[in-house]
Amino acid sequence: MALILGIESSCDDTSAAVIENTVIRSNAVANQAVHEKFGGVVPELASRAHQQNIIPVVHQALQLAGIDKSQLDAIAFTRGPGLLGSLLVGTSFAKAFALGLNIPLIEVNHMQAHILAHFISYPGKDLIVPDFPFLCLTVSGGHTQIVLVKDYFLMEVIGKTIDDAAGETFDKAAKIMGLPYPGGPIIDQLARDGDPGAFEFAEPRVPGLDYSFSGLKTSFLYFLRDKLKVDADFIEQNKCDLSASMQYTIIKVLMKKLKMAAEKHHINQIAIAGGVSANSGLRKSMAQMKGELGWEVFIPPFEFTTDNAAMIALTGYFKFIENKFTDQKASPYARGGI
Ligand code: KG4
Ligand code: ZN
Repeated sequence: MALILGIESSCDDTSAAVIENTVIRSNAVANQAVHEKFGGVVPELASRAHQQNIIPVVHQALQLAGIDKSQLDAIAFTRGPGLLGSLLVGTSFAKAFALGLNIPLIEVNHMQAHILAHFISYPGKDLIVPDFPFLCLTVSGGHTQIVLVKDYFLMEVIGKTIDDAAGETFDKAAKIMGLPYPGGPIIDQLARDGDPGAFEFAEPRVPGLDYSFSGLKTSFLYFLRDKLKVDADFIEQNKCDLSASMQYTIIKVLMKKLKMAAEKHHINQIAIAGGVSANSGLRKSMAQMKGELGWEVFIPPFEFTTDNAAMIALTGYFKFIENKFTDQKASPYARGGI
């Protein structure tokens, strides 16, 4: 039996979690409200907030798990990719804590962890996990990738965005409409009362399995700029339809390439991961593929979609059993493949 503490601080969520083998014991997350009014994450404010949050969040994770720090077998932390200043807080804390407790330190790649979140189990519940190889659409604020997952640590990115990420597109559309950050969940909510066919926006034409979202964002911006010239209340009066139409277009673009990838690689085990996999429209679209294309669909529990340390602890566990440890010299990386 191994008890692993996971620490996540790559962007604007400070999180700590305890996993017992693959079973979740606790998952504490402190969100940072400080970015709301800026329409995006302000890196310097994020790292300062991580510094304030990290000790209380770790304390909470241990308390919720009902364990003392002396019982921990290893500390897993996000080494990258992410914001350097934010990553530094989690990395430094993890290194110091592991040194102090004299237990192994394990580095985790944030994007791998989003995918491996599918292997987190709840106490007493049987878990249905994808078989290797499977495809995972990883959609977050910083990434949009189709990943061919051959094994826990054998992953290949077969398609990715050449500009904006899907989450970033949700957030920018929200910002254009004057909504706070992060806009994804707000658009999701507004879209429930809107007509997805109300407005049409330009869809990208990118060859192969890659994505592009910057044209869609610009199309949304120009469309609204023209409408606002004749009606200053246009956004306020149409925010549900605008949200539904924008969400519909983003999902259509995401699903088109995912279907192409499934066909090309003859794989019908398909998963989604990352913050945007919390989106109700995307979850619905995926579920429909079961009937339409005979996919076996894997949608992570809501709490493991956006950034969380449970996925870091779980990934740490898979490395722990293979003795893949990290030394005290490890420093964070802002960019890096999976
Ligand atoms: O994975 P994540 O928490 O952080 C990164 O690693 O980027 O993803 C955050 C992104 C944000 O862009 C946020 O707006 C988006 O996920 N997001 C959503 C929803 N919940 C979070 N986008 C659409 N619908 C949602 N329900
Ligand atoms: Zn993430």
